[in-house]
Formats: sequence, structure tokens, C-alpha cells
Amino acid sequence: MENIIAINDRKFVKYILKDEISAAVNKVAAEINEDYKNDVPLIIITLSGALIFAAELVQKLTINCRITAVKLSSYHGGLSSTSKVESLIGLTENIKDQRVIIIEDIVDTGNTYEHMLNLLNEQSPKDVQIATMTFKRETYKKNIPVKYVGIEIPNKFIVGHGLDYQDLGRNLPDIYQLYEE
Ligand code: PRP
Repeated sequence: MENIIAINDRKFVKYILKDEISAAVNKVAAEINEDYKNDVPLIIITLSGALIFAAELVQKLTINCRITAVKLSSYHGGLSSTSKVESLIGLTENIKDQRVIIIEDIVDTGNTYEHMLNLLNEQSPKDVQIATMTFKRETYKKNIPVKYVGIEIPNKFIVGHGLDYQDLGRNLPDIYQLYEE
């Protein structure tokens, strides 16, 4: 079946079509445009997964904004998130008194978001929010609000539209979920 693809040792089935992701991008962009119409936020893209969503989202923003990127890691090539988060490429922008919006492809346990928040708050930004393409509410363990959510998903491993399995699949336009035969 063409809706099923193989990546290395696993099969995945088409789950969220790119049109639905586009609608989610438009929804999140509209919320940010309204909330930041009097500000110039710094958009921080968390590489690599958020790259595709972020590229789509920022083109729908009508506000003035700065854009930068950082790289973090927590999955380490497996199927579930771990609590170990590493900062790989640091932030060079000055964020003191700035409004910051983190862009993510997925918020799962929230470890990465919490880790980033702690790092950013050391620099006394005015405020920090997050915009994520997908959110696993079931597995989210933190009390920190996740402000802008594109699509809520159940606790399934997903790949595509920026999300990887063993570093592959980020280029898929649609999102696939793990196929268990
Ligand atoms: C993914 C994703 C988030 C994080 C979410 O990154 O991009 O940053 O995991 O999981 P958490 O809420 O449980 O912390 P990953 O470590 O896979 O790196 P990548 O973006 O380079 O794929």
C-alpha cells in the first residue's frame, strides 16, 4: 500500500496530510500575528526538526521579527524521547528584555522545552513562549504552558515534515506514524 513506507527497520503509515499541517501553520501564524502586533519578537528555531514547520510559519508572519536557530537533541535516534538534552549550537543573540518565541516540530515530554527555557531565562528575556507543530499532551510532564499548538497528537512515534527516524524522513511532506502490523 502506497500509504505505507519503510525507513530502515521500521514501517510507517501516512497519518497527517500536508494540507492539514498547512492549516495548522495558518492558525498558529494568525495567533502570533495578533499577540505580537506591537512587538518585534526573536524567533528561535530548534534545529533540525523544526526547520520545515518554521520555514512555513515565518512566511505567514506579518509582524516584524528576528529569526535565529539553535540545535538541541534528546531522541538520539531511538523511538522515544529521553530526559537527556544536549545543547549543540548555542544562542548568540542578546535576548535581554526581548520577547522570544521558540519554534518546535514536537513537544513530547517537555524536557527540551524546559531545558531551553532555563537556558534562555538566564539572560532575562521579557518573556518566552513556544509554537510547536505537534504536541503530545499525554506524555507532556511539565506544568509550563505550551502556548501555540498546531496539531495535538496521541502518544505515537511520528516521522516526516521535519521529524526524523534515525536521521531519515525529515523531507517527507506528510507526517507518518509508526505502523505496527
Ligand atoms: C525532538 C524535537 C524536540 C524534542 C521534543 O528533537 O525536535 O526538540 O525532541 O521532545 P521532548 O519534549 O521529549 O524533549 P530531537 O532530539 O529528536 O532532535 P532533532 O530536532 O534534531 O530531530
